[in-house]
Amino acid sequence: MPSTAPSAAEPDPGPAGTPLPSRELPVPPNYPSGLERDVVSAGSTRIHLRPIRPDDAERLVEFHNHLSPHSSYLRFFTFHPVLSAAEVERFTCVDYENRFALVAEIDDHLVAVGRFDRHLGTSDAEVAFVVADDLQHHGIGSLLLDELAGAARERGITTFLADTLEENHTMLGVFLHSGFPVTKSTEYGTVTLRFSIEETDASRAALALREQARQVISNYPMPERAQEPHAC
Ligand SMILES: CC(C)(COP(=O)(O)OP(=O)(O)OC[C@H]1O[C@@H](n2cnc3c(N)ncnc32)[C@H](O)[C@@H]1OP(=O)(O)O)[C@@H](O)C(=O)NCCC(=O)NCCS
Repeated sequence: MPSTAPSAAEPDPGPAGTPLPSRELPVPPNYPSGLERDVVSAGSTRIHLRPIRPDDAERLVEFHNHLSPHSSYLRFFTFHPVLSAAEVERFTCVDYENRFALVAEIDDHLVAVGRFDRHLGTSDAEVAFVVADDLQHHGIGSLLLDELAGAARERGITTFLADTLEENHTMLGVFLHSGFPVTKSTEYGTVTLRFSIEETDASRAALALREQARQVISNYPMPERAQEPHAC
């Protein structure tokens, strides 16, 4: 997906193996802690959902390193076994307004990431998702799309855009079954999707069905923290 992943034409911006930011980094002052919650997905997997943080660098690298080559290819459209240091920083350091990511974690390990990147100055944003191989088809991708859409609406975003490979029926299914009015066009094996994320009767009905199959356990508002400088 172009804005969050390097395209085949974009050179890898930095060396892998650079020391990663510590797990002890403070939480950014504008961290939207109200979006933290525990959810049992449609596939009965209990996950902790939360916005990404700068101290996720090591967890993100570990997650990426455990993706199968096929999943990594579907996400990045190219063989991409190792995230560069620049990608790790870009993916973990977001402003929670124009660049936003949610992670799903189990026992301090990331198992999925969904993100949006606004086209600056517009109400459009590109979305991208990746779920750990052994947890795909457990409803986590759909859950991330629902949660991202809610967060995006609160930030004035009205439209999601995505590019996905034509062979990626799972990703296409998540979008096409979302209840949003998805339009798509295909060129050279890449499907470009565009859809309004504004709530409609159809989107509310589809969401209600998905929500019957999942369970929100609790919210975890974060305690107030000192507003220290952080890494990004
Ligand atoms: C594509 C991807 C993000 C989707 O996430 P996911 O968690 O597997 O998606 P979901 O489980 O929500 O939905 C996938 C399918 O499983 C089905 N499903 C969900 N829960 C289910 C359950 N409990 N039992 C059976 N099927 C289920 C959904 O109905 C959906 O089917 P559909 O495609 O017919 O709608 C994930 O598969 C992935 O990371 N793939 C590799 C990377 C990738 O392709 N990224 C996208 C880049 S464009």
